[in-house]
Formats: sequence, structure tokens, C-alpha cells
Amino acid sequence: MTENNTHRRGYYREFVSDLPDYVLANRDLWDASAAAWVAMGERAWTEEPSWGIWGIPESQLHLLPDHMTGMDAVELGCGTAYISAWMARRGARCVGIDNSEKQLDTAGRLAREHGIDIELIHGNAEVVPFDDASFDFAISEYGVAIWADPYKWVPEAWRVLRPGGELSFLGHHPLVMVCQRRDGGDDVTRELLFPYFGMHRVDWAEGDDRGTEFNLPISEWMRLFDETGFDVVSFHELRSPSPEEEVRFHIDAGWAHDYPSEQAWRLRKR
Ligand SMILES: C[S@@+](CC[C@H](N)C(=O)[O-])C[C@H]1O[C@@H](n2cnc3c(N)ncnc32)[C@H](O)[C@@H]1O
Repeated sequence: MTENNTHRRGYYREFVSDLPDYVLANRDLWDASAAAWVAMGERAWTEEPSWGIWGIPESQLHLLPDHMTGMDAVELGCGTAYISAWMARRGARCVGIDNSEKQLDTAGRLAREHGIDIELIHGNAEVVPFDDASFDFAISEYGVAIWADPYKWVPEAWRVLRPGGELSFLGHHPLVMVCQRRDGGDDVTRELLFPYFGMHRVDWAEGDDRGTEFNLPISEWMRLFDETGFDVVSFHELRSPSPEEEVRFHIDAGWAHDYPSEQAWRLRKR
């Protein structure tokens, strides 16, 4: 394995001064917290695919095509790029794009150590440097799926997919946004604290490690998919496998056994 196996294009047609405030703030946040995600990334690179906070197995969710030989795949907000590794092992040619150079440093090192060829690009995945219809498959697990504006990244993912190409993504369920205080570090509650309708940009408290996220009411996600040109292949509202698990990422397992803590979508471009 040589250093050349992983390519870094650096910045592309992105000028920092043009980036939205939340992309810059989330970049600082992820550069600052990347070290805390190294161990998890290293572990995920060695494991079979499983998803989200509760590690739901791929055999239950089917977020990846079974066979990816010869497919062009892009991971939008790839972080340490373990999903790209899973896709590359299924035969795909993979590109990972991420807003944090520090996260990409980890991804690049792991790609070299595992002998897996992934093209890694630093940038805002709301606007990607690819021609129309460049990919067969796009995916995001807690990447653009929560950190980017869906009115930007969903049409952009559609643009770079080929007709019949698929987009899978997983992130917080919008109910979590309704039931969590935003003034710092609190776990999800059983109270309805914020309106569900009208949900879009969610700014967590300054100094919180959650920066700015985005989410939509389920019916609004569906309207966006339909108007963009995606059909829904599958939709899952995820629950914790047992109420006895520990609190993970501010989500109590008992809460997540009673209410959906995550959403997972698989879409197909018309
Ligand atoms: C929780 S990680 C998810 C990635 C991967 N599943 C993981 O856990 O390593 C979130 C990633 O999204 C990236 N991100 C946030 N906003 C982004 C944007 N606008 N474009 C591309 N990546 C973004 C962050 O830099 C971070 O690496």
C-alpha cells in the first residue's frame, strides 16, 4: 500500500468566505473534536456494517446494496470513512467528502493501513465538485444527514446520482429535536419542548459539542424527496433494542425504546 492510494484534492471551487456560517462553525467544531472519534473510527473500520447509536445490523435495515461491484459511491460527510471502507469491500469505487480536515486525516490514515483505496475530498457536501450523474449510490450516516441543510444537500445528492441511483441516509429522528433542551448537554426528555412543525435549523448552545444541525418533520422530508425527484424505497424509525442500555449521545435507551430516536431512509432517483 502506498501513500498514493488515498487522494486528497484539498479545497475545490469552495471559497471559505462563501461558506454558510453553520458550515464554518461546524468545521471548527469537528476539527476540534476529531481526536475523540479516532477510536470509534478505528473500530468501525474492522467491523461488519451496523448503523447509528444502537448499532442496528445491516441485515435489518438494508441501507447498502448487497452487491456494489463496479458501482461509483459517494459518502457525504464521511468522517473517518468507515462506510466507504464497507462499500469498497463490496466492490465499489468510493469517494468520501467531509467538512473537517482533521476527520479526513484519520480517514486517510485508516485507508492506508487497511489497504483500501478511497478518494477523500475536503469540502462542504452541500455543493460537491462532481458532474451530474457521476454516482450509482450516495450515503450519509450522521454526516450531511444532520449537519447540512436538506434543501441544499438532498437536491445536490440527486444531481450527482444517475437515474435509478440510490441515496441512503440515517440521523436523528425529528422527535429528538422536539424533546431536547438546546442550552447545553442535556439528555432527551419526555416533554415536548419545541414545535415539530416548522422544524429546520437547530442551533445548540454555544460551547455545546452539537453545533448546528438540521431536521424536518417527516411529511416535509417526504415532500422534499418527491419534489426533488426521489421515490422512497424504505423508511425506518429506529428504537433501542433494549431499554436497559446506557445513555448514548444524550439519548436514554428507555426513551429510545418508547419513541423513535433515529430515522433511516433509502431513496431512488426517478
Ligand atoms: C458523526 S460524523 C459522521 C461520519 C461518520 N459516519 C462517522 O461517524 O465518522 C459527522 C461528520 O460530518 C461532517 N460534516 C458536517 N457538516 C458537513 C458538511 N456540510 N459537508 C461535509 N461534511 C460535513 C463532519 O465534519 C463530521 O466529520
